[in-house]
Order: sequence, then structure tokens, then C-alpha cells
Amino acid sequence: MSRVAVFGAGYVGLVTGACFADLGHDVVIRDVLPERIEALRGGAVPIYEPGLEELLARNAERLTYTLEVAVAVRDADFLYVAVGTPPTYSGDADLSAIWTVVDELQGLERRAVVVMKSTVPVGTGAKVRARLDERGLGHIGYASNPEFTAEGTAVRDFQQPDRIVIGAFEPVDADAVADLHAGIDGPIVRCDVASAEMIKLAANAALMTRISFINEIANVCEATGADVVRVAEGVGLDRRIGPSFLRAGIGYGGSCFPKDSLALKQLAANSGYHFQLLNAVIEVNELQKRRVIGKLNRHLGTLRGKTVALLGLAFKPNTDDTREAPSLVLAGRLVAEGADVRAWDPVADGRSILPQATICATPLEALRGADAAVLVTEWAELADLDWAAAASSMRNALLVDGRNMLDPTELRAAGFTYEGIGRAAGSGSAGGSV
Ligand code: UDX
Ligand code: UDX
Repeated sequence: MSRVAVFGAGYVGLVTGACFADLGHDVVIRDVLPERIEALRGGAVPIYEPGLEELLARNAERLTYTLEVAVAVRDADFLYVAVGTPPTYSGDADLSAIWTVVDELQGLERRAVVVMKSTVPVGTGAKVRARLDERGLGHIGYASNPEFTAEGTAVRDFQQPDRIVIGAFEPVDADAVADLHAGIDGPIVRCDVASAEMIKLAANAALMTRISFINEIANVCEATGADVVRVAEGVGLDRRIGPSFLRAGIGYGGSCFPKDSLALKQLAANSGYHFQLLNAVIEVNELQKRRVIGKLNRHLGTLRGKTVALLGLAFKPNTDDTREAPSLVLAGRLVAEGADVRAWDPVADGRSILPQATICATPLEALRGADAAVLVTEWAELADLDWAAAASSMRNALLVDGRNMLDPTELRAAGFTYEGIGRAAGSGSAGGSV
């Protein structure tokens, strides 16, 4: 069994650490936030990720938490880097947290491997390699082992991966990282470091492209009388296309897609290439979030003085993450139009992100007296809501189903004027779950 140090106790670092501990390795997780380390030592998990708390608890004897680099690196075989890489103003990824980690590494006498989990621009590995060499750490290996974990299913994605990508400069390091994953079933893709870095960016870009593609098809469906839910089903059954990531809606958000698309766009531009398709994918997504306002206008006229209930704030269900969530853009636009915003989410902390909105404890409370509702996040609670009661409690029972989650026929029977995304009036049944 190996000793693994993980730098960064965020979504990715905690899941990585917990899963390696579950495989039997000794794991020490290091973060710069004292309150985060304190909480973890006390058994509290600072983020909401299904299954993570149990996994950390079950493997508590193999997991330690520290603020000290020296403690983290002591006897470590692997130094996983899972700190954040947010976008800068230019759209490039901010790698300062990564450089801080690399520059803080100390007391490394025997061979260990620095493994990059954070999403980084292509070429970062080569730069880190050079920096390690400059610092007299030529004996330390380097590998890229990008994450493909989606929030909400991160533990499962790690434990049952579609593939494990390992890029390394030395075969011995790739072997070591592959061995570290013993016990996890999944094909291993071995390649050079730059290709591993690009696989991560390209996979995300492909998924975003599918979403913007189906959103544009949805917009054409609306204009032509088709139902995008049926269209996606029919298209997705083509084995060459496949059904996943064809859910039309109010656009993608989250901590990865928006930032990684900007980073890839910038990476291409910095290398002299204009990535036209990716630019269009990003623009379609921006417009998609704003199209909801047009739908509300069509039914309500001006939004000044109207009350709009937002159901769901997280960028997707089963996470408390609101980074780049469509709800934020929507709330901002609504407030700018002069509307009053009421909002509900079962886990995301609405008060801190939407101080201008009234945050409600239940969906029904958010809907009471409202002129319109927008289903922003497809939380399971909303499938079971008493929609007839909801309709009668609203001043005007208009629902824009931003995720095509609900059955239009049932909602209309419950008294709603129902609008989905890409579903011509009178068409369709509940959305699929692909
Ligand atoms: C990760 C990846 O690192 C990112 O590159 C990837 O694209 C998405 O997932 P995530 O785990 O979501 O990021 O980030 P976050 O939840 O913000 O956690 C990062 C952690 O690193 C925080 O706890 C932060 O305190 C810590 N950190 C940051 C350090 O320990 N050291 C630093 O220098 C900076
Ligand atoms: C994503 C990738 O899936 C994962 O592999 C990578 O490591 C990190 O980024 P995540 O951001 O957690 O994961 O969520 P994901 O489930 O991919 O959803 C991203 C966004 O796309 C959400 O806002 C979701 O609502 C939206 N989406 C997804 C759609 O609008 N339609 C779809 O068909 C699928």
C-alpha cells in the first residue's frame, strides 16, 4: 500500500483522497484553510457530495488532515495536486495555487511522483517538470491523471470510471500511478503528459458541445412546432450518437464547464488558433440562460413589479455548488428587469449568493403569490410536488420548466400555463433522465 498526499480539500481533493483510502492506501489531505482542516478532523465534511461523508468516515483510520506541507509530504509516494484553477480575467486558468504547491514541496529525499489532478492548460506539466528540476527535485516524478468526476456522482465516477488517463514523462511513473489504482476496474489510457492534459479539456468541450447543440435544436423546435425531448430520444438511440448529454435546458454551469471552455479557448488563441466551434458553444450557452426572460415577457409583459420564483439554485441537482449556475444569471437579469425574486434550493445557500432575493424554505413557500415560476434545477423534490396546490397558491400559475423535468400534460391539468425548453405548446411528456 502507498502513502498519498493530496493537496486541496475541495470537491476533487476530498473525493480523490477518500477513494484512495478506500482502496487501502494511507492518505493525508492538506489544505490552506484552517477551518476546513478543523472541520474534517472533527468528522464534518465541508461540501455536499453524496456518499463522501460515509466514505471518509469508513476510512477514517487511513485518513489524516493537515495544514502543514512538511507533514503531508513525509514518506509520501504520491503528491496529488487538487487545488482549484479558476479563470483569470483573460480567460486563462489561474495556476497560482499550483505553483504555490510546487514551490512549497520540501524534504523529498526519495522518489515520489507529483500527480496533477487539477485541470490545467496543455503544457503545464512540462513547466512543472522544469520547475521541479530547477529546484533540485529532478528525482521526483511527474504524471498527469485528470479527473472526470461529475459533482453529485463523483464517488461513483472515481470508483467505476469510464477510463483512467495517465500521462507521464517516465514509464516508471505511469506504472506507479496505474498500480495505485489497483482495485478499480476501468481501461487505462497511457499517453504523454500533454495529451493527458488535452484529453481532459477535449472531453469537457465535447460534452459542452453536445449541450449547446441540443439547446440550439430546442430553439429551432420551439420555432417549428417540434418537441426536443422526443427529438433527443430519437436522435440518441442512434448508436453512433448515444443518448447522454442531450438534455436541452437553460444551459450548463458549474465549476468546470464554463472555466474549462474559456481556458481551452484561450489556450488555442494563445497558440494562434481561433477555435470557432468552441466560441459558438460558449455563446449559445450564454444566450440560453437569458432566453427564459423572453419567455416570461411573452406571458407577463414587463417584469417590473412581478414576482418570480426560482426553483433550484445549484448548477445541477445533488450538489450545493452554485459556481457559474444559470440561476445566478437568471436572478441578476430578473432583478435588472425590476422583478422580485423568491428562491428555493434544498441544499445550496441562497442567502450568500443571492442577497437580493427572498430565500424560502420550501418550494411551495417560494411559489405562494408569485406571478411565474422557473424550474432551474431538476431536484427530485420537484417531481413529487403537489403542483395543483402550487398553482392555486400563485397569483398567476405560469411555469417555465428550464430542465424539461415535468410532464406538460399533467402540469396543464394542475392549472399551469406550462412552457418547457424546445417544446412547442401542447406537445410532449416528461423529460428523459439521460
Ligand atoms: C478542482 C480542480 O482542482 C480544478 O482544477 C478542476 O477543474 C475542478 O475541480 P475543486 O476541487 O472543485 O477544483 O476546487 P475547490 O472546491 O475550490 O477546492 C480547492 C481547494 O484547494 C480548497 O479547499 C482550497 O482551500 C485549497 N487550496 C487552494 C489549497 O490547499 N492551496 C492553495 O494554494 C489554494
Ligand atoms: C463535468 C463533467 O461531466 C466531468 O466529467 C468533469 O470532470 C467536470 O465537469 P459537472 O460539472 O460536475 O461535471 O456536471 P455535469 O453533470 O457534467 O453537468 C454540467 C452542466 O451541464 C450542468 O449545469 C447540467 O445541468 C448541464 N447539462 C448536462 C445539461 O444542460 N444537459 C445535459 O444533457 C447534461
